[in-house]
Amino acid sequence: MGISRRAFTGGVLGLAAAGGTSLVAAPALADTPTLEAREGAAQLLPPDHAATPIWGYEGQVPGPLIRVRQGERVRRRFVNGLPQASTVHWHGIRIDNAMDGVPDLTQAAVPPGGNFLYDFVAPDAGTYWYHAHTRTWEQLARGLYGALIVEEADGGPALDRDELMLIDDWRLTQEAEIVPNFGAMGDRSHAGRLGNWVTINGAGDWRRTVRRHERLRLRLANVANARILMLGLHGLEGWIVALDGQPLAAPEPLDRLLLAPAQRADLLVDATAEEGSDAFLLSLEREGTFAIATFRVEGVMRPRRLAAPAPLEPNPVAPLHGLADARSARLLMQGGAMGGMQSAIMGGRETEIREMAAWGRVWAFNGVADFPAQPLLELAAGETARIAIVNETAWPHAMHLHGHHFRRIGEDRTLGPLRDTLLLDRQETAEIAFVADNPGDWLLHCHMPEHSAGGMETWIRVG
Ligand code: C2O
Ligand code: CU
Repeated sequence: MGISRRAFTGGVLGLAAAGGTSLVAAPALADTPTLEAREGAAQLLPPDHAATPIWGYEGQVPGPLIRVRQGERVRRRFVNGLPQASTVHWHGIRIDNAMDGVPDLTQAAVPPGGNFLYDFVAPDAGTYWYHAHTRTWEQLARGLYGALIVEEADGGPALDRDELMLIDDWRLTQEAEIVPNFGAMGDRSHAGRLGNWVTINGAGDWRRTVRRHERLRLRLANVANARILMLGLHGLEGWIVALDGQPLAAPEPLDRLLLAPAQRADLLVDATAEEGSDAFLLSLEREGTFAIATFRVEGVMRPRRLAAPAPLEPNPVAPLHGLADARSARLLMQGGAMGGMQSAIMGGRETEIREMAAWGRVWAFNGVADFPAQPLLELAAGETARIAIVNETAWPHAMHLHGHHFRRIGEDRTLGPLRDTLLLDRQETAEIAFVADNPGDWLLHCHMPEHSAGGMETWIRVG
């Protein structure tokens, strides 16, 4: 296997940096911790390069790690120190609708200098994340994300080390600045904003020293706008124990792991590389295999590997029932480059694709590129829902449902694992099912924000 360090090749040169901004002072806020979105700098590239100006929570990339026990409350006073409106979305948390952070659907966007109290209970253990949900194509690409880890009430599995790994993909110039062409038409109509520099927790060369036969929990999250990761391991062996925060019924031996934007995977792995050698987390790409994280093996933890792990305790997600007479809907995804879509409803009328494109709209859900006035499905609380998602486009998409976890109904009628984000390949159809037990208006959209801004957004209403 040929493994190489990723070479930095700044793709786009000579673009002007984004306009200067002023910081807004946070108001004095009693006892609730604040989470301020503001400008900052991060050393994304190796130390012989400049630090990169970013937008981050508390000015950092990633934002502060929020870690609570299952069933505990999360309270943060969000303070907007950005030059534009913003909101925080708590991705994958089955949350109160009013705390979901979707502007114009669940709350008003927080203006520059404004603040908003996010206050909710984390019902499920697992690996979750939070990110900006306003002008996401820009704010996520600038670094507005962080992790929310909810610890198992029973203390979780036996392990030696717990590592959070937020994997991002930045589009940087040779001067280490973020290329400011956010939401560019080429990205909207193609694969979304792909970058040229991968970081883990904001570091281009993430490394740890471990001991042989140590057991690690790796909490992986793909926080990139659009890069679909195919991950592998070298010198580490183990299992997938949870996806999108939700435990698998049985740990699944890990070979390769496909991780779409917004998806998470919890791995339990043992360092099996020899002492004195390196183990790697690998990104398997068309151009080759890249080491994106390095684990130096020094010393021995124990003479042999631990036994295979037991499954994690399931979360209190309502079991699926009544699939045969569930309420169902069909979601047809169309448009994009090479999609052949001629027109769609935009601004309430049938509009030619050329005119749509001039407004940045290049995709349609069920023939509509507007944010629909009516929900895709209106459900009574507790009802079972099925949505058949038909991707007629020439591009893969990562479809995310807010407020619920769903299962994919397989062709043989078996049910897949609980997830909050589903990767659909080009021309692929998938049917998902879930119990609509969380009241409110919930977004269903492609998590490549260039695509959702370009028309890939709808919503459901749970009464
Ligand atoms: Cu992680 Cu609607 O988003
Ligand atoms: Cu998409």
